[in-house]
Amino acid sequence: MSRVAYVNGRYVPHRHAQVHVEDRGYQFADGVYEVVYLHQGRLIDADLHLQRLARSLRELRIPKPLGDTALRAIIDELLTRNRIANGLIYMQVTRGVARREHAFPRPGTRPSLVVTLRRTPAFPKNLEGWSGAAITVPDQRWARCDIKSVGLLPNVLAKQAAREQGAVEAIMVDADGTVTEGSSTTVWMVDSAGVLRTRTLSERVLPGCTRAALAGELCDAGIGFEQRPFSAAELRAAREIFLTSATSFVKPMVRLDGAPVGDGTPGPVARRLFEMLARRMGGGLNR
Ligand code: PDD
Repeated sequence: MSRVAYVNGRYVPHRHAQVHVEDRGYQFADGVYEVVYLHQGRLIDADLHLQRLARSLRELRIPKPLGDTALRAIIDELLTRNRIANGLIYMQVTRGVARREHAFPRPGTRPSLVVTLRRTPAFPKNLEGWSGAAITVPDQRWARCDIKSVGLLPNVLAKQAAREQGAVEAIMVDADGTVTEGSSTTVWMVDSAGVLRTRTLSERVLPGCTRAALAGELCDAGIGFEQRPFSAAELRAAREIFLTSATSFVKPMVRLDGAPVGDGTPGPVARRLFEMLARRMGGGLNR
């Protein structure tokens, strides 16, 4: 069955899904996006993602194209038309189509909305196969990384550098040596003293929805963790490193810049947190 996408009010075959050449997303990366995981027909943390989408739009003064109810109706329609149970929903909103000029177009310009759906393999069942290697790279992004902008060139270059070095993620480090985040993930670690940590939120990082969900689970389970920035040097000394995102869940990094992290296998904390997220979604690891 061919894939169907939603583009500015119409359901169209994916291969014909197009926006105008003067769309400001194409011209200026003047837009924002969200990625939501779909597990067995259920959207994971949809409320958090829709709240973050609304916030990104507000911060950039892009009008909301639709209310949340209408947006969810579009997603439901795409789920029906595409018959996908496990996958990713991608939503993108730009400031719309207008003659190319840097300043905002005239009031009333309609924002563009694209929603697509893509099948992905079901939730991973084995943490060893799910783990990978990371590299560190300088963070070359702008000063408002808390906005989920489609302007992702530094992230693209960082991820490509990782791939060329046989790694799955590039962990970005500020000029002062502080770890910000992965090119498309939140970074967590168990430090050399055994403390589970992820950095504080600020304009330097995206407030991850998976981070928020996991933080809630940790609180409910009475598991302590700290929100405290850490340096690349502290990361190198970590017992465990793992990443979270809507598509990575909890993903252990067993090598960093070519050196083993801890004993070079997924650690007990990552395993436990993976199980927590998996249970929350109604899945789990094979034992
Ligand atoms: N990326 N940091 C960055 C820079 C990200 O791009 C993402 C998500 C995250 C994790 O956020 P969340 O837990 O809400 O997925 C952190 C998505 C998956 C992407 O760009 O494909």
